[in-house]
Amino acid sequence: MHLAAVWLLRYSVVMCLLLHSLVLMAFCFHHAATTCSKRCYCSETENGGKTMRCSNLQLTEIPEDIPNDTRRVYLDFNLLSAVPTNAFTGLTHLVELDLSHNEISQLEPGAFRGLGSSLQFLDLSSNKLVNFNADAFEGLRARANLTNNPWLCDCNLQMALPRVDLEPASLTGIVCQTSDPEKIGVQGLAFLLEPDIDLCVVMKRTTDVAMLVVMFGWFTMVISYLVYYVRANQEDARRHLEYLKSLPSRQGKSEDSSTISTVV
Ligand SMILES: *[C@@H]1O[C@H](CO)[C@@H](O)[C@H](O)[C@H]1NC(C)=O
Ligand SMILES: *[C@@H]1O[C@H](CO)[C@@H](O)[C@H](O)[C@H]1NC(C)=O
Repeated sequence: MHLAAVWLLRYSVVMCLLLHSLVLMAFCFHHAATTCSKRCYCSETENGGKTMRCSNLQLTEIPEDIPNDTRRVYLDFNLLSAVPTNAFTGLTHLVELDLSHNEISQLEPGAFRGLGSSLQFLDLSSNKLVNFNADAFEGLRARANLTNNPWLCDCNLQMALPRVDLEPASLTGIVCQTSDPEKIGVQGLAFLLEPDIDLCVVMKRTTDVAMLVVMFGWFTMVISYLVYYVRANQEDARRHLEYLKSLPSRQGKSEDSSTISTVV
């Protein structure tokens, strides 16, 4: 009787603890989608506009628990180095995204996927962007600040720009720090504002050179074959000539014999 009571007590304590943790877990999961990321500062205006400020926190990764009804996210002055694919999916209300003053050198394809219909302003200024990846901006029609990045202007960039839907003025923020070819004189200039500069001409020229080399190769082969052919035939011709040369003496003999025969 006593033992049974002790067992019952233990059992109920364990059950109680289990139940308690289950409730806590459910509460936490529910919490994740609606409350602010840790260390960030969230505020809400009266018209329901949620803002999350995570500026200057030495973050190296984009927080994964941004509430899905956030309208403005400030991640400026951190240590972010890349924006992975689908980094902000689910944030269908996001209007403004500030990623300025980070170390971002890589925007993966589809980095801003899912923000196309809502995002109006994207700040990527003062980062380490070198190569322009049009696939990163797929579906975005926002105004973007792309200034103050060490852009490399090359044929790749020139081909990519017409493929993006960003507000066109955004692209004037691409000021070339380096270029390929180097000596085309585009450094320090906003690439879009220099319509006369064609960075793909040089590539076309190199393909032309390649074509020329290939053609020259074929030409050389044909000529060598011709030379070989002529040489081989020359041998034949020489033999034939020798044969011909040997003929007149015989012919002379026959002529002699014929004159003899006529004389006879
Ligand atoms: C946010 O996510 C929750 C559940 O995950 C969902 O019920 C809610 O509709 C979402 N809100 C928005 C604005 O998408
Ligand atoms: C873009 O960013 C730079 C530096 O981060 C800032 O000075 C400039 O005013 C911004 N431009 C626009 C159009 O917001």
